Amino acid sequence: MASNALPLTWFVTYLLLAVCETKMDSMKLNQFPKTETMLSMFAGRNLKSSYTGANTEVNVLSYGAVGDGVADDTQAFTSAWKAACAQSDSIIVVPAGLQFLIKPTTFLGPCASGLTFQILGTVIAPGDPSSWSGMNTKTWLVFDSLDGFSMNGGGTIDGRGKKWWTLSCRRDPTNACSSAPTAVLIRRGTSTTIENLTFQNSQQMHLEFLECNGVMASGITINTPCDSPNTDGIHLSFSQAVVIQNSLIGTGDDCISIQSGSANVRIKNVQCGPGHGISIGSLGEDGSVANVKDIILNGATLRGTTNGLRIKSWQGGQGSVSGVQYENVKMVNVANPIIIDQFYGCSKQQYCNNQTLAVQVNGISYRNIHGTSSTPVAVHFACSDTFPCKNLVLQNIDITYVSTKGAAASFCENAHGSSIGPIAPQSCLQ
Ligand SMILES: *[C@@H]1O[C@H](CO)[C@@H](O)[C@H](O)[C@H]1NC(C)=O
Ligand SMILES: *[C@@H]1O[C@H](CO)[C@@H](O)[C@H](O)[C@H]1NC(C)=O
Repeated sequence: MASNALPLTWFVTYLLLAVCETKMDSMKLNQFPKTETMLSMFAGRNLKSSYTGANTEVNVLSYGAVGDGVADDTQAFTSAWKAACAQSDSIIVVPAGLQFLIKPTTFLGPCASGLTFQILGTVIAPGDPSSWSGMNTKTWLVFDSLDGFSMNGGGTIDGRGKKWWTLSCRRDPTNACSSAPTAVLIRRGTSTTIENLTFQNSQQMHLEFLECNGVMASGITINTPCDSPNTDGIHLSFSQAVVIQNSLIGTGDDCISIQSGSANVRIKNVQCGPGHGISIGSLGEDGSVANVKDIILNGATLRGTTNGLRIKSWQGGQGSVSGVQYENVKMVNVANPIIIDQFYGCSKQQYCNNQTLAVQVNGISYRNIHGTSSTPVAVHFACSDTFPCKNLVLQNIDITYVSTKGAAASFCENAHGSSIGPIAPQSCLQ
């Protein structure tokens, strides 16, 4: 029996992967170089790793948690939270080898300093959307208004989102379009560290930082099927001084999504795929004002994704994207390796007429980008007539079209800038 099971599992897995045309890279996190702490991002604050005093451990089992994956452990977690929140340098311990079922909950600060949530085991969401009935369906676990909060431990946070996915109108156009919960939302946090955790099967986005200042996200694994709708990996909105590093992200939407109000973001050593790539935007929807600036991505591999390095904005929006540097990126079979699209959403009829306003794209550089494109156009700059893209820089680009193993093409519309060194496909910048 057992000997038959393996080929069947392999076959089913193969079919699933074939639909999304990619699989998660097998590289293990411990192959990454040592975690860089970038203390300067945390201006004047001691990170937990340098703390040498006594910690108070608050084990959720002591507060009545069962951990059998069936019993509702929400009350135990909120009681443990209250106790830990009141005392400085507390560690809430979620033990290994157990599964804790937690219903939608907000863990509210402010708390005494140095609070750590150490997840060694697994935290699971209710699998059934009805658990949200009468509640706000926007979130599952919220950590609100905390200073110096850490979450780590090597454990798993599993949104069990399958039933939510089947309700999505992206999955089935006969469904009404409605949103599903963000699995983990960190809101109004200062100096937050999220380290060494796996996030999977989120209902919608996996890990969102909203109005945060000082974020270190390191050693994050996101492992969710490529056909899961709207499941962004790490999503930033109105957050500054952010480091995302040493992480493996495979999901059904953007691996990393950088939204309006984000600035001073550093991304390094990230593997993305399956997914929709590393995206800035979409920005400026419904005439809104959006600003993103000072983003540096240095060191990433994108594998089989539908986009690589993407900036997307809606016509009619306002604001700007400026000061973005992409460096040392490897593309493997990526559909749109380099793309700026100021006509995002144009498949929706009402946005297709030309509009004069647009989010200005200015000062975007691409250095040492190499690998393969799964489509003939590897570089695509579609910019508006009234707000052309300015100061784009291409330097040392080598992307080939995978089918012909030869030259790919570039597309430019209202794209201004310069190129340095060898550029393939040939630059079409004005
Ligand atoms: C995270 O994992 C890395 C690599 O295994 C390890 O060096 C580091 O101490 C871990 N951090 C925490 C807070 O457990
Ligand atoms: C929009 O502008 C582009 C570029 O000038 C032009 O080619 C296209 O025909 C215009 N479309 C409409 C619907 O006016």
